Amino acid sequence: MKKRNTLPASQIGIVGAGVMGAALGRAMLDTGLAKAAGIWATTRTGASASVVEKELGIRCTVHPPTQWLQKTKILFLCVKPGQARGVLKSLLKAGLRADAVVVSIVTGLTLADIQSALGRAQPTIRIITNTPLLVREACTAITSTGNIPAEQGRFVKGLFAHLGLVQEVEESLCDVLTGLSASGPAYMYLIMEAFADGGVRMGLARETALQFTAQMVRGAATMVQRSGRHPASLRDDVTTPSGCTIAGLFVMEDGKLRSTLARAVEEATKTARALGQSTPPK
Ligand SMILES: NC(=O)c1ccc[n+]([C@@H]2O[C@H](COP(=O)([O-])OP(=O)(O)OC[C@H]3O[C@@H](n4cnc5c(N)ncnc54)[C@H](OP(=O)(O)O)[C@@H]3O)[C@@H](O)[C@H]2O)c1
Repeated sequence: MKKRNTLPASQIGIVGAGVMGAALGRAMLDTGLAKAAGIWATTRTGASASVVEKELGIRCTVHPPTQWLQKTKILFLCVKPGQARGVLKSLLKAGLRADAVVVSIVTGLTLADIQSALGRAQPTIRIITNTPLLVREACTAITSTGNIPAEQGRFVKGLFAHLGLVQEVEESLCDVLTGLSASGPAYMYLIMEAFADGGVRMGLARETALQFTAQMVRGAATMVQRSGRHPASLRDDVTTPSGCTIAGLFVMEDGKLRSTLARAVEEATKTARALGQSTPPK
């Protein structure tokens, strides 16, 4: 019989219920992986906490009471990188259980950083995901310490599987995935904007140009995913002799598009690596 990913008796904490944290909370509720009574959250300000309480129907406060932390089996850490270490230390003081699984989506924060901020071998999962999580089209990489209880591990993997593609990776690959897929939506927005500009330049209404660009990008991505074929082979299919596509491709090659995009990933990866090594501002 297939094991369910629910944790019926457990408590789940979301520390930093901002854009990403709140989206995770909503996904847990929408998928039935958790009930509102089983989730608590925190934000930095009371105003944000009220919004989260109203929109998600879960308990949300500025400081988590010890009685919540003492029951918590999974704690999602969703604050900004510069806040993470301080927040972890205050959670420790407030009574975070030694066997609670910390699930961090914080950019650049390593498994070792989390364990060192807590000063103990806390079971920890590091997630690299991206904002298409908001529309359940994320790509998520998971890496973890070796001491994750099976039940919590299944829950986290099940949650992200509901939100798109999920794959377990070695932690050494987290920086390149940050530079490729976590930053990637921003690259694609820029590219899509440029395509739409081309359409507008040649007479399309902005709205039409954007809608056709977005659907074209989605269609091409689906072709790559479903066919399993190399993009170069798919490209050959649509490149007729003396045709318009080869004319457009020549312009892209003149502009060094391929090396420009590949180097963008290289540069973002180096920045992610440096972010992980630097002491973030308080
Ligand atoms: N956005 C992305 O594309 C993306 C993708 C993958 C991963 N990430 C990572 O996800 C994390 C969150 O990003 P986000 O875009 O969701 O940020 P965000 O919307 O700014 O959310 C941050 C949340 O943390 C709360 N917070 C700050 N200090 C706190 C504290 N001391 N205790 C409890 N809560 C605290 C904030 O509360 P207030 O609202 O009261 O200030 C807010 O709810 C970041 O580390 C980011 O690197 C982001």
